[in-house]
Amino acid sequence: MTLREPGPKGLILAATPSATPPEHVAIIMDGNGRWATNRGWPRLVGHRKGAERVKEIVRCAPDLGIRWLTIYAFSTENWKRSTEEVLGLMGLFSRYIEREADRLSAEGVRMRFIGDRTRLDAKLQRLMASIEARTEGNTRINLTVAINYGGRNELARAARILAQRVADGTMSPDAVNETTLAAALDTGGLPDPDLVIRTSGETRVSNFLPWQAAYAEYEFTPTLWPDFSPQELADILARFGGRDRRFGGAVAL
Ligand code: FPP
Repeated sequence: MTLREPGPKGLILAATPSATPPEHVAIIMDGNGRWATNRGWPRLVGHRKGAERVKEIVRCAPDLGIRWLTIYAFSTENWKRSTEEVLGLMGLFSRYIEREADRLSAEGVRMRFIGDRTRLDAKLQRLMASIEARTEGNTRINLTVAINYGGRNELARAARILAQRVADGTMSPDAVNETTLAAALDTGGLPDPDLVIRTSGETRVSNFLPWQAAYAEYEFTPTLWPDFSPQELADILARFGGRDRRFGGAVAL
C-alpha cells in the first residue's frame, strides 16, 4: 500500500487497501523523549513534535480504512515524571483541543477520552467535555484519547460501578459477566481494537487496554513516535491484512 502526496483532504491511498483493513487501531505513542534527547533538546520539544504527528495520523487514518483510532497520551504512571514535563503535557493536550476543535469538527472526527478524569485540571476537563459534545454527531472517524489512563485502574473503576449496583440492589451478582463488565469500562460501546501498534522499539503493553486488546494483533516498530509517518502506518496495515486472526478457533484446512 502506498500513499500519494497530501491533497487538500490529507493523504489519499494510491493502491487498494488490504483485503481486511483493521477497523480499530490503537497506538502507544512512545519515544518522544528520546527523539528530543538524541538532538540535545528538552523532552517537551519531542512531545510537541509528537502532537504534530498525532494531527497527521488522524488526518490520514480514514483514507487507510481506519474507523476507530485510540491513542495513549498519558498513563496513570506518567505522573511520576517531572512537574515540568507533566504540566507541559497537560498544556499540550489543552492547546491541541482548543486549536484543533474546528478542524476536527469539520473533518468528521468524533472525539472521546478514556481514563480517570477526576485528577485532571478543571479547565482541561471542561475542554474535554466540550469537544466530546461538539463532535458527538461526527461519523467519519472515532478518535479516542487515553489521558490518565491505566487498564488496571479502569477495570477497578468498572468493578466498583458494578459492585455499587449490586449493593444498591439494582443488579444481581449473577448479572456480573463479560458483557456487563465491558459496558462499565471507559470504552463501553466502543469496538475492541484489532491492532495495537507501539513505537520506539519497546515491546511492552504498559497497561494499555488489557481487557479490550485480549485478541488484538500487536506490531512493534523501532521508529520513535515523532518520526512515525502515514506511510509506515500504511505498511503496517498492509502486513496486518495478511494475518490469520482465529480468535481461539482452529486453522481452516
Ligand atoms: C511517550 O514518549 C509519550 C508520552 C508519554 C506522551 C504522548 C503525548 C503526545 C504524543 C503528545 C500529544 C498528544 C496529543 C493527544 C495532542 P516518552 O516521553 O515516554 O518517550 P521516551 O520513552 O523516549 O522517554
